[in-house]
Amino acid sequence: MTKKPAKPKRDPNVCWCNMVAKSVIEKAIKDGKTDIYDIFEVTNAGVGACGGSCRPYIQKMIDQYLETGTFPEKPR
Ligand code: FES
Repeated sequence: MTKKPAKPKRDPNVCWCNMVAKSVIEKAIKDGKTDIYDIFEVTNAGVGACGGSCRPYIQKMIDQYLETGTFPEKPR
């Protein structure tokens, strides 16, 4: 019996307006972008047609990373 191949790791979008994946924002935060405006500068996440509905989640990602060194498990 052969083992099923592992499912690809999920990488949901955080910002749907600009199709920015969670991993892209995580990398920006790990690279030291810990301000919502810096995140926008390097990823385009947070400013779009919806008016920025992803910003609270991005801020949550920043806050949790600064506090614990981890990111929220649940997608936005
Ligand atoms: S979902 Fe990010 S600006 Fe709309």
